[in-house]
Amino acid sequence: MISRVRILAAIALALVAATACTAVAAQTVPDAATRQAAVKLAQDVCGSCHGAQGRGDNPRIPRLAGQQRAYIEVQLKAFRNQSRNDPAAHEYMWGVASTLSDGIVAALAEYFAAQEPAPRAVVADAKVVTAGKQLFERGSPERGAPPCTGCHGGGGEGMAVFPRLAGQHGEYIYIQLKLIQNKLRDSPVMHGLTKQLSSEELTAIAAYLESM
Ligand code: HEC
Ligand code: HEC
Repeated sequence: MISRVRILAAIALALVAATACTAVAAQTVPDAATRQAAVKLAQDVCGSCHGAQGRGDNPRIPRLAGQQRAYIEVQLKAFRNQSRNDPAAHEYMWGVASTLSDGIVAALAEYFAAQEPAPRAVVADAKVVTAGKQLFERGSPERGAPPCTGCHGGGGEGMAVFPRLAGQHGEYIYIQLKLIQNKLRDSPVMHGLTKQLSSEELTAIAAYLESM
């Protein structure tokens, strides 16, 4: 099982690298002026929705604090070139992302990745959280669903283009999993992995991740 997940992770990395190779391979190193401009933008503009430090409270707007830098860069470029094209992406992120240069994208990613993640949330239903933890860590071998930890890390901390999920809003996670399942958010790797999970299972996983 472990080796299968490793292989999947390697394939996923290769796929993402192939589609977003400029973002991953040639990482832009922002200069001091760009960094300064990005901090101001992050706090004044992005902060109005995501929270100035990326720890916003709106359950439908993702937290960015402590998110993987490479993942933030890839997503901002996907909003900018409109390939992440679910309705909320279109409505809220296309406009703001269309104005960002590669340098500002890199500096914004650096800024949010360096923020302290939000403190743990207390999620009411402990039984649901436990069910979610099991699925996250073990997958569902009988249905060929591998553990999520193979790519997202044992603590949901993510790595490079694999997003941090720990401490993310449960409602946002659930919406994204549904979008991915229904191919409304284009993520070939994740689509295959989530397509057999029920809504109850996705709810449980989302509750567990929010509680981490
Ligand atoms: C008007 C509100 C709003 C503003 C302003 C805004 N965002 Fe967003 N952002 C959203 C919403 C809503 C989503 C979720 C989109 C979706 O569901 O596809 C999102 C998604 C994202 C994501 C994807 C996170 C993930 O976990 O996949 C990143 C990265 C991001 N925004 C960064 C930024 C940055 C950087 C700025 C400032 C330049 C910014 N946003 C400004 C509302 C906003
Ligand atoms: C083979 C590697 C791999 C495995 C295993 C995997 N994921 Fe992912 N996951 C990814 C990648 C890559 C992305 C980013 C997709 C993109 O760029 O749009 C992602 C994105 C996500 C997102 C969107 C996060 C955000 O901030 O918008 C969620 C939620 C998620 N995965 C949950 C899961 C769950 C739950 C499982 C287990 C059922 C799982 N993943 C298993 C690779 C994986």
